[in-house]
Amino acid sequence: MNVLIVGSTGQVGSELIKLAPDYFNVIAPTSSELDVTDKGSVDDYFVEFNPFIVINASAYTAVDKAETEADKAFSINDNGVKNIAIAAGARGIPVFHISTDYVFCGKKETPYTESDATNPIGVYGASKLAGEKALTEFCDKHIILRTSWVFSSSGNNFVKTMLRLGRDRSEISVVSDQFGCPTSAASIAKALWAFGCLLYKYDSTSTKEDFPWGLYHYSNKPSCSWYDFAQEIFKQSKQLGLLEHEPGLKGISTSEYPTLAKRPNFSILDCEKIKNLGFVDIPEWQSELNDVLSDLI
Ligand SMILES: NC(=O)c1ccc[n+]([C@@H]2O[C@H](COP(=O)([O-])OP(=O)(O)OC[C@H]3O[C@@H](n4cnc5c(N)ncnc54)[C@H](OP(=O)(O)O)[C@@H]3O)[C@@H](O)[C@H]2O)c1
Repeated sequence: MNVLIVGSTGQVGSELIKLAPDYFNVIAPTSSELDVTDKGSVDDYFVEFNPFIVINASAYTAVDKAETEADKAFSINDNGVKNIAIAAGARGIPVFHISTDYVFCGKKETPYTESDATNPIGVYGASKLAGEKALTEFCDKHIILRTSWVFSSSGNNFVKTMLRLGRDRSEISVVSDQFGCPTSAASIAKALWAFGCLLYKYDSTSTKEDFPWGLYHYSNKPSCSWYDFAQEIFKQSKQLGLLEHEPGLKGISTSEYPTLAKRPNFSILDCEKIKNLGFVDIPEWQSELNDVLSDLI
């Protein structure tokens, strides 16, 4: 059974390849082999490989740059998803897709559930929300996993940035009034494969109609601020010998660290819905962080 992984070189894409169950045959093109913005390129892969599932881990993820490259962000995060959704929907092929906590404005004070109203405050969030809508409209059999603060040993992320700064500087200022849930790319890949395994079992025993399709929030636990996250990164990095000394850490407010794109102050996702399915693990980010840092030794 072929599983087509789009965006296979990214943080989540790389983990999807590493963690793929061996009864799936993974097809993992690069973005130059399968460009989601090119409808013909998307269709060619569907025709050639007739995938059992398509997992879309591709995205335009440069949150600040998106403010000045809105066309590019929408072309990948909205139109690209639409191209996949139309090709899959027409053939009855399921699509597993990843979205973001940045579809919310961050004004809530309790964790966001799947039924909360969306209201992105930046271009990236708006483009990802448009992609969610395109997938929902054109492909019935979909799983959308909204996640947050993704980290892994590959690619660009907060953990790698903190490690670099921790080596170069004696004191680092980190925002302490934005709250969310760090989430390892590996745990996201495991969650998606858990749906994949279930679908594999369904295929021989049942119709795909009663599969738990839909929108889910998924992050690691517990919630924290970027400052708390940085503190743990430095503590563990020192313990593992990745840093000689823990740098001084200073908490600052969002207003003291202006960025091109506004971020939600509060983007904690309520993960009860996915937890209640009973087959998806929600690990603590501290232990996931330990695995990622150990990979970097
Ligand atoms: N990073 C986060 O903190 C975060 C938070 C919440 C949600 N998410 C979501 O999680 C998912 C995975 O994120 P990630 O951090 O793994 O992303 P990533 O590391 O930035 O990887 C993005 C992937 O998309 C590919 N891509 C870009 N443009 C493409 C195109 N036109 N056609 C095909 N592939 C293309 C990239 O390939 P090239 O490198 O060759 O361009 C890369 O493989 C995304 O949906 C993202 O929105 C991420």
